[in-house]
Amino acid sequence: MKKIGIGIVFGMLLGFAFPGYALPPGQKMEFTKSPMGKVVFDGNLHPSKGIMCDGCHPAVFEQKKGTAKITMANHEAGDKYCFVCHKEGGKAWPIKDNCNKCHIKP
Ligand code: HEC
Ligand code: HEC
Ligand code: HEC
Repeated sequence: MKKIGIGIVFGMLLGFAFPGYALPPGQKMEFTKSPMGKVVFDGNLHPSKGIMCDGCHPAVFEQKKGTAKITMANHEAGDKYCFVCHKEGGKAWPIKDNCNKCHIKP
């Protein structure tokens, strides 16, 4: 029990020491609802590409897991969520032919 406590405190210290991560260092978040396969969101990835917290929070995503309701219409319109950047003419590569960069085939 004591070891777990120390682990948690150490993890929090790391989080404060290296604030360039969307989630605690090394953590990932999963979006599992799509029939196209789950999307694993690695909290370190975007900061490593120069997209920091304010690239997504609070304008694009709330800081609360499970708030975003991502639809196929959002994918196509590029109006919300991941697709404000991942679209033709956006900051990142568009969804066309790139489904599998986000979705892991079930
Ligand atoms: C590329 C976009 C992106 C960037 C950049 C980003 N986040 Fe997030 N963040 C998300 C998404 C997506 C969620 C989940 C939102 C949802 O499910 O509706 C999230 C959720 C969170 C949550 C809530 C986690 C939970 O368990 O509820 C926190 C806290 C958070 N982000 C902090 C940060 C911090 C701090 C940074 C910068 C170091 C950051 N984020 C950068 C996309 C991003
Ligand atoms: C604020 C803009 C922005 C948002 C919002 C955003 N991304 Fe990105 N994303 C980027 C940029 C910039 C890159 C790096 C592009 C490059 O290397 O050409 C990137 C790269 C990625 C990569 C790396 C793929 C690879 O192998 O090159 C994945 C996966 C990814 N994003 C998934 C997501 C997901 C899932 C979401 C929504 C939860 C999201 N992104 C939201 C800007 C964004
Ligand atoms: C930039 C990352 C990204 C790319 C590229 C992407 N998706 Fe998604 N997609 C997501 C995320 C995140 C979700 C949300 C899943 C969830 O809510 O569990 C999602 C959800 C979905 C859903 C479910 C929508 C709903 O209404 O429930 C479908 C279908 C889907 N994607 C198909 C596709 C197809 C087809 C492509 C390629 C043309 C694609 N996606 C490309 C990130 C992406």
